Amino acid sequence: MNITVAGTGYVGLVTGVCFAEAGYTVTCFDTDTEKINTLSAGISTIYEPGLEEMLVQNMDAKRLRFTVSPAEAYSGADFIFIAVGTPEREDGSANLDFVESVAREIAEHARGKTVVAVKSTVPVGTNRKLAGFFNPRSGISIVSNPEFLREGSGIADTFQAERIVIGTDDKAAGDKLAGIYRRFGVPILRTGLKSAEMIKYASNAFLAAKISLVNEIANFCEVTGADIEEVALGMGMDSRIGSQFLRAGIGYGGSCFPKDTKALVKLGEEWGCDFSILKSVIEVNSRQKQKLVNAAIGIAGSFKGKRAAVLGLSFKPFTDDIREAPALEVIRQLLDEGADISVYDPAAMGKMREIYGDQLYYAETPEEAVKGADFAFVLTEWPEITAFPLEKYRLFMRQPVLLDGRNCYSAEAAEKAGLTYVSIGRKAVLAEAVAAATK
Ligand code: UDX
Repeated sequence: MNITVAGTGYVGLVTGVCFAEAGYTVTCFDTDTEKINTLSAGISTIYEPGLEEMLVQNMDAKRLRFTVSPAEAYSGADFIFIAVGTPEREDGSANLDFVESVAREIAEHARGKTVVAVKSTVPVGTNRKLAGFFNPRSGISIVSNPEFLREGSGIADTFQAERIVIGTDDKAAGDKLAGIYRRFGVPILRTGLKSAEMIKYASNAFLAAKISLVNEIANFCEVTGADIEEVALGMGMDSRIGSQFLRAGIGYGGSCFPKDTKALVKLGEEWGCDFSILKSVIEVNSRQKQKLVNAAIGIAGSFKGKRAAVLGLSFKPFTDDIREAPALEVIRQLLDEGADISVYDPAAMGKMREIYGDQLYYAETPEEAVKGADFAFVLTEWPEITAFPLEKYRLFMRQPVLLDGRNCYSAEAAEKAGLTYVSIGRKAVLAEAVAAATK
């Protein structure tokens, strides 16, 4: 059984490596020669725990190879997974250029009787349109097979998926694809083509909404004196609500939630459907990202001549991905305010440097980042950062004001350590000197 995966981003690479690990012969295709050369040398192009080891093992076992040649990728494939990006256009809609160009090349090179499974997140109706790229007599069938893996836990999410969605109007093609997944022993849901496309957007919209709702409740907790950690715990014990995705914070980021919520609003507009809840979800999230810098300005008045440390740059721990990360918004605000900024992240420093160059100081440790700072922002709950002791902020900072966007510390402990401490959905702690100055 030959499998080809088109696109070697987060979804494509994890999918390709995992199918090889499951025993299939896999070819990963990408148009980016540099990426393919790096992968062919056994080096992972993404930061994903456990992926590089698995990649090397499967290359050694001759189950995994990489190519830039569409002919090599598609001509001998029984299954082709499309996992190329669908980036956001300026108007919020999904850009389908990459998906369409892959479909065109498949039409040119595939030998027929091929099942094309689309993992890329595409608006409802796209897969039916893509089917039009293939000659009806070619025996190429299209199946929507949306991907739900999370960055940072992609391998576990693949092998222990809570569901595989297979959406198609062609039963035989759906049966074939289901056969491929049988080895994984995970639940398979069969649906129509359009429903599968919709499940992906609806799931991401629902999860993003859960976060924005909890963030609004958190903001209300701050003014009323309730504590969001206790509130979320109490809410999560209701199995209808569920305890996951109730972590209040500085807002969601990443390659999916921001892009897919906007794309769904846009898609709704095209169909004459007003997604008013989703618009609010997006609006709440964008305000949430600005909240800590605004709180800092409330405390200090201005950032002129002040030093700010930002701990945690990736949009979540265990990834180097900074797409739509709250850190980007915080840093933009801090630069506008004229602050000197030092940053630290265990994995995302390189990506940050590509954007900001020497506008920032790149520290090698959290300690070095906070040294001499007036403000420290904690934006990603990396273990290295949550383990950084509160006393060190007091010891190393000029004026220890800690703004914790992920509720990594306890407010009581911060108070005991003599810090001014602002977190999300909990009472702020003002150190004596700061309290006196802000009176
Ligand atoms: C998400 C979906 O979970 C996944 O199913 C889909 O395929 C792609 O998008 P991912 O973006 O990798 O995955 O990460 P996820 O763990 O879902 O986190 C997304 C963002 O939400 C992060 O910025 C995270 O910090 C934030 N988040 C998550 C919260 O703020 N609170 C929570 O309780 C959970």
